[in-house]
Amino acid sequence: MSDENAIVTEPAVTPGPMAGNSSTNRVILPDDKILSGHEVDGIQEMDNPMPVWLSTLFLATFLYAIGYCIVYPSFWFWPGLWKWSSTTEMNRLEAEQAARRTKPVVVKVDLAQLARDPAHLANGKAIYELSCATCHGENAQGKVGPSLVDAEWKYGGKPTDILESVTNGRPGGMPNWGNTLKPEEVEDVTAFVLSLQKE
Ligand code: HEC
Repeated sequence: MSDENAIVTEPAVTPGPMAGNSSTNRVILPDDKILSGHEVDGIQEMDNPMPVWLSTLFLATFLYAIGYCIVYPSFWFWPGLWKWSSTTEMNRLEAEQAARRTKPVVVKVDLAQLARDPAHLANGKAIYELSCATCHGENAQGKVGPSLVDAEWKYGGKPTDILESVTNGRPGGMPNWGNTLKPEEVEDVTAFVLSLQKE
């Protein structure tokens, strides 16, 4: 048989130095693509450069980290450019809270009189049901928060004491309503709480 009739199956591209010995139908890469030499399940890893967006991102995070280390305390000898510390931050917040607590509540209305006014009481009741009942109970009998119908008061049961409790909150889990409710609403709900007291 002459060689002229033989079917020639030469590879179209000359295999690179790392190409092929383990798998029969592997892709033969052009020479300018460099193989790293890694291969898993017939997939060959190429030694391409990182995409520009990725290396830019990498560089950006790197520079950010350096900036962060300069601005914030990052090493035992370095307090940071801004001298930020969790301790001073906490002291500042505590001082702020204490200042708010000691700020006297200004009573602009006669709360006892308000507690006898049906319109204000109805408004106060509505606010109570919306904002207070979840913690103090539907009938103010107490739940997470203490009962508001018995004669026992931790912070005092005088109209101004209750107004103070509601306006500025109390440390044991009573939220500060002075920031959430309007002053009239705080007054009305306080009047409602007062109206619950048995004479
Ligand atoms: C997230 C739950 C919660 C909500 C909502 C809440 N409270 Fe309280 N309240 C408490 C807790 C807990 C205390 C006890 C605080 C303490 O012992 O320091 C308290 C305490 C009080 C006190 C003081 C009681 C005392 O013995 O001196 C009053 C008055 C009061 N709440 C009224 C209200 C009113 C009025 C509202 C609605 C505007 C309200 N609370 C909403 C949890 C709540």
